[in-house]
Amino acid sequence: MSERKAPEKIDNDEITRQRQIARRIRENNEFEEMKTGKHKRMHVITFGCQQNNSDSEKIMGMLAEMGYANTANKEEADVIIINTCCVRENAELKLYGNIGALKKLKEENPSLIIGVCGCMMQQEHAVEIIKKKYRHVDIIFGTHNIYKLPELLERAMNEKYTLIDIMNTEGMIIEDIPVLREEKFKAWVTIMYGCNNFCSYCIVPYVRGRERSRKPEDIIKEIEGLAKDGCKEVTLLGQNVNSYGKDLDIEVDFADIIRMTNEIEGIERIRFMTSHPKDISDKLIHTMRDCKKVCEQLHLPFQAGSNKILKRMNRKYTKEEYLKKVLTAKEEIPGVALSTDVIVGFPGETDEDFEDTLDVLRRVEFDNVFMFIYSKRIGTPAAEMEDTASYEEKHRNFEKLVKLQNDISKKLNDKYMGKTVEVLVEGRSKNNPSKYAGRTRTGKVVNFTGIDGIIGKLVNVRINEIHSWFLNGEMHNEVGQ
Ligand code: SAH
Ligand code: SF4
Ligand code: F3S
Repeated sequence: MSERKAPEKIDNDEITRQRQIARRIRENNEFEEMKTGKHKRMHVITFGCQQNNSDSEKIMGMLAEMGYANTANKEEADVIIINTCCVRENAELKLYGNIGALKKLKEENPSLIIGVCGCMMQQEHAVEIIKKKYRHVDIIFGTHNIYKLPELLERAMNEKYTLIDIMNTEGMIIEDIPVLREEKFKAWVTIMYGCNNFCSYCIVPYVRGRERSRKPEDIIKEIEGLAKDGCKEVTLLGQNVNSYGKDLDIEVDFADIIRMTNEIEGIERIRFMTSHPKDISDKLIHTMRDCKKVCEQLHLPFQAGSNKILKRMNRKYTKEEYLKKVLTAKEEIPGVALSTDVIVGFPGETDEDFEDTLDVLRRVEFDNVFMFIYSKRIGTPAAEMEDTASYEEKHRNFEKLVKLQNDISKKLNDKYMGKTVEVLVEGRSKNNPSKYAGRTRTGKVVNFTGIDGIIGKLVNVRINEIHSWFLNGEMHNEVGQ
């Protein structure tokens, strides 16, 4: 085994060095391809949230730079990278199953390189498990040093040991890492990294570090580049986008970034996530209302309805404050689709507390609710709290939530019947490949009958069938034609 400490500070020379290694690997790969006639291939598996998806796009960008083509088939890959999540226990369990399954592939092809990275690798106990039980893993790296992939890969080609390179101090923000995006017409753009909120149940601040905002000019340059390449929709990403800019030494906030993005020619839709209820400002709500390109969609996690539980969660708002903010957003932004995250069964949550969660759902009427049963995360304050409710009790309440929300979602979707909505066409429908699928500005999935050549375009679709989780319809015309 070889463990190395990463440098505390990354300068431009370090980035140039990584690019040089990448070029060297590419040349080697091209040379081998000439000999064998086989193109080198990569397979990247991503767990977790959009932040991880965005990191995986960078990992794939770097691998493409090194001469690897993407493959959906693990069996034919020369490099397999698994980007992990540890926000809940089931995400961890899934990972071990996946790594275990790769052992056979490594035995069949010893030159296959297997890398494991991402949030879970920022936790010592997880790295220990992989080191001990999954010796076929070649590289382990964390969330702060993905830029080092070329160096790690080159070393892994020459060394037999598992290379472990985790930075515990947060890295600087590294710009100019190549990005390989699956689609041209929509893109995630990370505007800030990390989180300062330390909600008592959440592991994210420990594995992603403190808030770091990208410079506005870097963000805008990236979005302008995307627009030139035909991108129509951007989703601005951060664990708490409303904190954007607080760590910069210039006067700029998240609403300013939205206004600047709204001016970029070619961009037609702006989305963002996530906002923390304590930080959502009137300025942001007014900006959403006033900027034409900002979609009528707001994801605002409330987690729990009971003030006692919110306090124990360290969320820093009350049920009443949450309701006031969300209802203001509803008034100011006509037709806004609201979504939220809810945790069921936080330590100490009684059935009476849970009633408050149901009450918020009934009062707000969210279009979409992401529901999670509380999962104990080692190292967080909530892991030390007494948790007496059984899994069955928690599950029963979870089912109540699902039932209530299904009815609400269906009722809200019913309003779309017969309406014509703008859809950004994302591809063929998964359920029915003879149809197309895309999303409305409010984020609803629409399956519809269309015509050739519309993928990536904005079209008007008339809705003729309603379901709880999607809508069906028929294309009317292309927007602007
Ligand atoms: N920064 C975002 C997303 C954080 S993770 C935010 O604050 O909204 C996404 C969701 O996972 C959280 O909103 C929360 O509902 C859920 N979550 C986080 N930690 C959890 C845990 N220990 N158990 C269950 N759900 C959790
Ligand atoms: Fe986790 Fe809270 Fe930060 Fe969201 S705001 S990432 S839930 S600590
Ligand atoms: Fe998971 Fe890391 Fe995102 S823990 S939810 S992938 S920030």
